[in-house]
Amino acid sequence: MTERLRLGVNIDHVATLRNARGGGHPDPLRAVEIVAQAGGDGITAHLREDRRHMRDADIAALAKEAVLPLNLEMAATDAMGNIALALKPHAVCLVPEKRQELTTEGGLDAVSGKARLGPFVQALAKEGIAVALFLDPEFAQIEAAKAIGAFAVELHTGRYCDTDGPERAREFRRLQESAERVAALGLECHAGHGLCFDTVGPVAAMPEVVELNIGHFLIGEAIFAGLEASIGKMRALMDAARDAIPTPARHGFA
Ligand code: PXP
Repeated sequence: MTERLRLGVNIDHVATLRNARGGGHPDPLRAVEIVAQAGGDGITAHLREDRRHMRDADIAALAKEAVLPLNLEMAATDAMGNIALALKPHAVCLVPEKRQELTTEGGLDAVSGKARLGPFVQALAKEGIAVALFLDPEFAQIEAAKAIGAFAVELHTGRYCDTDGPERAREFRRLQESAERVAALGLECHAGHGLCFDTVGPVAAMPEVVELNIGHFLIGEAIFAGLEASIGKMRALMDAARDAIPTPARHGFA
């Protein structure tokens, strides 16, 4: 029996499309039902300071009404902390945020932010929220996450996805070694950013990784194939990669 690799579908860009015209279509809550039917295990949504896609009312509705658990991505600001404490999503993933960026550009600096992040993470954890830190695959950052008291680390797969040849191989090794380090420290290991049908397999095959968060590619692909088919294919690729792991190396059996 393999521990199933969870798929969190980031539905921010359903809201991006809705906001392009105002009004309520397409509705992110409707997307959640399809994610569930297609084999997704959770919903990820990022409430950005500039509210460029998800808005406060979306996050409140996703936290209260969605049929899947919500993983709220957010910056570690007091304002966001208060929102999370009020809504109590299943999980929070802390990310760095720059106003002008197109998407989350790098991992959080947990090393220099340790003193401030510690109490922030503890306050969320006290309310039963599973807190992950979104980190570049670097040992010092991972160790800081452990010291801070995070429940999980989400490894940033962006550089692995955006490179090729020897550079991608190098990035992949960094991810592998980091995933091992995360698991060895007793933290849950998640991964995400930039993953698509071509890049997901090797990451899904890392036995330490228990959750992938994927958004932009799935929503983009849905334009051509439909949301259910897009997620269904990703699910199948993840499961196939997982099933190919030799049994003794599978998570929980090492
Ligand atoms: N994980 C985190 C922490 C992110 O910030 C994002 C992007 O919002 C993702 C995963 C998903 O990345 P993508 O949209 O490139 O699949």
